[in-house]
Amino acid sequence: MDELKGKTIILGISGGIAAYKSAELIRLFKKEGAEVWVVMTKSAKEFVSPLTFETLSGNPVYSDMFLDSSIFNLQSSISMPHIDLAKRSDLFIVAPATANIIGKFANGIADDLLSTLYLSAISPVLIAPAMNNNMYANPVVQENIKRLKGFNINFVEPGFGELACGDKGEGRLAELDTILSKAKWLLAAKKDLSGKTVLVTAGPTHEAIDPVRVISNSSSGKMGYAVASAARRRGAEVILISGPTSLPVPSGVRFISIKSASDMRREILKEVKKADVIIMTAAVSDFTPENYSEKKIKKEDTEGITVKLKKNPDILSEITSKLRNTQSAIRNPIIVGFALETDGIIKNAKKKLREKNLDFIVANSINGFGSNQNKVTIIDKKGNLYDIPQMSKDGVAEIILDKIVK
Ligand SMILES: Cc1cc2nc3c(=O)[nH]c(=O)nc-3n(C[C@H](O)[C@H](O)[C@H](O)COP(=O)(O)O)c2cc1C
Repeated sequence: MDELKGKTIILGISGGIAAYKSAELIRLFKKEGAEVWVVMTKSAKEFVSPLTFETLSGNPVYSDMFLDSSIFNLQSSISMPHIDLAKRSDLFIVAPATANIIGKFANGIADDLLSTLYLSAISPVLIAPAMNNNMYANPVVQENIKRLKGFNINFVEPGFGELACGDKGEGRLAELDTILSKAKWLLAAKKDLSGKTVLVTAGPTHEAIDPVRVISNSSSGKMGYAVASAARRRGAEVILISGPTSLPVPSGVRFISIKSASDMRREILKEVKKADVIIMTAAVSDFTPENYSEKKIKKEDTEGITVKLKKNPDILSEITSKLRNTQSAIRNPIIVGFALETDGIIKNAKKKLREKNLDFIVANSINGFGSNQNKVTIIDKKGNLYDIPQMSKDGVAEIILDKIVK
């Protein structure tokens, strides 16, 4: 595919150890036919010499906002780099992105060339953070990332593993191939879902025991949000019905927030007739407490409690039987279910696919819960199995949508 051919990429490099990896990234982008302009922060230059990037990109490297304009004019046609570079850019990537530059972007601080360029960029933005695991886990860093995601800024989540400082954890710059494929993904002009309505369910449900206690599960909602945002990017009208999560709502989707399985059922039944595609990623609780206490159950009043659970309605079966059996149904939507099992994953997923009359089922292991990555097998109704290698949930979302479009 030629997504990067003839495209101009502005590559921002900030001051972390992973700055040396940007050299290889430039090579990969150039190999795909892109033109690359590098902007370095002052700290980045402590790690790698601009000459390396200048040589690899074939373009001058920018770093200072207030250079003698005669030098600029001699070097290139660029006279105001913070504006001119932004105008040229098809994609603005920052890799590696330090905690500092992420914080500046999230708060509109423009005190150097890279942060000023970010504010004037009109192209899509892709950020690949890299830092020590404790820095990455710091709530303020997480809050800044969440804020930027809310502004529709794209991220390549860092990987887990050995860090330059010797620690182990989440914070390593994502694999360069992952950054490359996300860049291609952003530049792909694929609008193959335009005119279609895609209904996505995501997240866990909360089944209340009393006003403060719930039974739930550890679904993060990340898979469903990735599907919703990819479908939107591919031109679909998207309705996202989500249980409680801490994720920012993907921009451009119609968002319906629910708590319990019965809320989920009610909202799906309201929306389902509009959908051409239904993707049920939510981890809806199979059970709910038989009794709800209007008042908080006090520990002083009891030595212990027994919560009796009853089965929740099977929403997927209900909607498939409704939609498949309605002669007058305007649409016969493509319905995709998810199956999460601890054992017999494929066997159980196939059974669910058959019994619930689905078009596809996505079987995933418990390891994907809460993680940014997923390892899934997609099974279609003819029984064909597609083993997808472990990859980001954004990548998995694209592959699911590719199958649906096909
Ligand atoms: C040896 C060394 C390695 C560093 N690695 C990182 C890193 O990987 N990620 C990060 O966020 N900050 C890292 N820092 C801290 C940043 O360089 C520092 O916060 C700096 O102000 C970032 O500036 P910039 O965002 O303008 O590039 C490192 C500092 C040193 C001295």
